Amino acid sequence: MALLIRNGEIVTADSRYTADIWCEGETITRIGKDLPVVPGATVVDAAGCHVFPGFIDPHVHIYLPFMGTFSKDTWDTGSRAALAGGTTTLIEMVCPGRSQGTLEGLDIWSSKAEGRSACDYSFHMGVTRFDDGTAEELRQVVRRGVSSFKIFLAYKGAFGIDDTELYRTLKLAKELGVVVAAHCENETLVAERSRELLAAGLTGPGQHHESRPPLVEAEGVHHLMTFAEMTGAATYIVHLSCREALEKAVAARQRGVKVGIETLIQYLLLDKSYAERPDFEGAKYVMSPPLRDLRNQEVLWAGLRDGLIQTVATDHAPFDFVSQKSMGREDFTRIPNGIPSLEDRVNLLYTHGVRRGRLDMNTFVDVASTRAAKQFGLFPRKGTIQPGADADLVVFDPAYRGTISAATQQMNVDYSAFEGWQLEGRARVVTVRGEVAARDGRFVGTPGRGRFLRRDPDHF
Ligand code: URP
Ligand code: ZN
Ligand code: ZN
Repeated sequence: MALLIRNGEIVTADSRYTADIWCEGETITRIGKDLPVVPGATVVDAAGCHVFPGFIDPHVHIYLPFMGTFSKDTWDTGSRAALAGGTTTLIEMVCPGRSQGTLEGLDIWSSKAEGRSACDYSFHMGVTRFDDGTAEELRQVVRRGVSSFKIFLAYKGAFGIDDTELYRTLKLAKELGVVVAAHCENETLVAERSRELLAAGLTGPGQHHESRPPLVEAEGVHHLMTFAEMTGAATYIVHLSCREALEKAVAARQRGVKVGIETLIQYLLLDKSYAERPDFEGAKYVMSPPLRDLRNQEVLWAGLRDGLIQTVATDHAPFDFVSQKSMGREDFTRIPNGIPSLEDRVNLLYTHGVRRGRLDMNTFVDVASTRAAKQFGLFPRKGTIQPGADADLVVFDPAYRGTISAATQQMNVDYSAFEGWQLEGRARVVTVRGEVAARDGRFVGTPGRGRFLRRDPDHF
């Protein structure tokens, strides 16, 4: 199996030039001008297109039992949607319930992906409780090639852990050399404010923001940073949404705390007015942390440009509007939290980042691919274009014009948070380890071909 991508403009996090790419089997083996066309090879004419490394989404939920229901995608539908949108590697959160064992959780989540995912994948191991047996189980998890943990400082009574569990998780992570990804919101403040709002008869989706305003997130970040400083553990703040939280994280980094920061495509483009839409329409936009005041968007874009924020993910968590979001029609605390955006992240970030002059092309690649690969031990196998790297490539057509719609998307959910949004650019051809997996926004690959990516610790 050989693949030749001709005449495209190759763009990585630190270079931009026109050349051909030759892939032998699953790997990039040569990059150069006017490489010969060998009979039998698949040839892709990339003239007029950019060629990017396969994009990486470091924060997705595919299988997610949550708030009394399950997120809608399977690994089959989710990986197809990812590939159609140019994302070739996913890192999913394993989120066992507090009554489940850690290894039991990893086995369940692995069984959902194995033989079903069309793209490559890895996991963050959710630590949703830390008792006598947890440390040994987590050691085994790391030996199985999962070198990052995930904790929730929110979701009291569900995934949330207390401070003793937090301290022990971070101590162990430091010892093992793994990164701890964290959802940072103060769960007590959320619970108390929710109770007060509901008691006052304020029950609609727009109240979700009032139950967890920026200070609640900033307190969560400050809390994590204090524990990280005390333990020396490496941390990664997922779905950071606002200035207040960013300031706490950056202040900690300046004190020497090891912290990576992720924001989401939806925080860059949507604001809290979406969750305030009438007739319960706002429920489509209920997620945690909530969509924020518009003023935060420029803070996040600037954070990406300045290198304060490392990655743009999706936190893809699809719940149907009609049958699932509606569970919270009378009570916003019962609306399943989450937004689907796996398919659209790359195209939206290109359109609203690169095309609008907010991000240069190298930064775009860096925040949507390379940084995630570096942060989570996948680089240079993933996240760049060079001989020896996996042949995960995105031939991207900047001249494409189109419109996002639930009617045409491949994510298995009944709405789009970006319905009617215009795209200026789209992945034309997407390859995974040398095989064409998507063309013109449709999956054309081999179902179940995706591979679990072992990641060893101590790369941070
Ligand atoms: O609202 C969100 N973010 N839902 C998914 C679960 C999580 O907190 O990441
Ligand atoms: Zn979260
Ligand atoms: Zn999440």
